[in-house]
Amino acid sequence: MLNSPVQSMKSSGMNSFSTIADIRQQVLAWKRQGLKVGFVPTMGNLHAGHLSLVELAQQQADKVVVSVFVNPLQFGPNEDFEQYPRTLEADQAALEAVGCDALFAPSVDEMYPEGALQTRVCASPELANILEGAQRIGHFDGVTTVVAKLFNIVQPDLAVFGQKDYQQFLVIEQMVKDLSFAVELVRAPIARDQDGLALSSRNQYLSSEQRAIAPLLYQQLQQLRSQIPPLLEKGDFTQVKSLLAQAKQSLLAAGFDQVDYLSLHDAKNLKKCSSNSHSCILLAVARLGQTRLLDNILV
Ligand code: PAJ
Repeated sequence: MLNSPVQSMKSSGMNSFSTIADIRQQVLAWKRQGLKVGFVPTMGNLHAGHLSLVELAQQQADKVVVSVFVNPLQFGPNEDFEQYPRTLEADQAALEAVGCDALFAPSVDEMYPEGALQTRVCASPELANILEGAQRIGHFDGVTTVVAKLFNIVQPDLAVFGQKDYQQFLVIEQMVKDLSFAVELVRAPIARDQDGLALSSRNQYLSSEQRAIAPLLYQQLQQLRSQIPPLLEKGDFTQVKSLLAQAKQSLLAAGFDQVDYLSLHDAKNLKKCSSNSHSCILLAVARLGQTRLLDNILV
């Protein structure tokens, strides 16, 4: 059943699968041997951040499956689905090099053979309609739908997602709870460049001038993390608000073109941080030209 180029590119250490039937068969064989299966869903164009998720999965599971699928359902009509970088051969080589056990790289037809799906998974509106979801209507429904489908296909014991996309993590965690998926979720820390910039495939679009400004976002978050806790202890939310406003101004003054948001949220439900919050998270998106840089830090 060699029905795609991926299928035919088998190599010694890692098998690549492009059909649902074949990856299922592989996972079933592992499960029959009593092996624990870890899973890392991605859209490819892999960098060291993605590979750190694979390593974490390897520490906690016997076999690791990575999926590479650019999911049309989570892109809006004016977003970059067509332009999204597709680098399957390089991804495959990178996964082999870190000792990944299986790659699942289906075509859009394999995942959505009838075109638009009839059935979708609706992400928790409370989590999905704010921040990243506020402008991207339906984005998180596209994410929950594909992740549910991938979970059903791969049937992993555990799945690793990055803290980099904190809101996405919470949306998926809620879905797993609400729909009783038998999968343990693991949240991987944000992998960063040496200067602190969170790794992202979008970093490659930065000019050298923009690249020099980019790490200031994380520096600003670190500074806020040291300033905010004493204010929270005193319940001084007015002062927190003014610190956040100052931080936004500093980013703009340093050369960022826009700050989409820089705000403090309850780490559990993403509501604004309040005196009832046990832990808080600073979430930020700032733009350099067309490039949106996403980062966050737990406070
Ligand atoms: P993608 O953007 O390819 O990201 C795949 C995973 O890598 C996500 O869990 C993301 O949070 C994680 N990741 C990205 N950069 C990271 C970094 N610097 N450090 C740690 N983890 C990082 O997120 C998606 O794909 C898709 O929405 C997906 C979940 C695959 C559904 O289509």
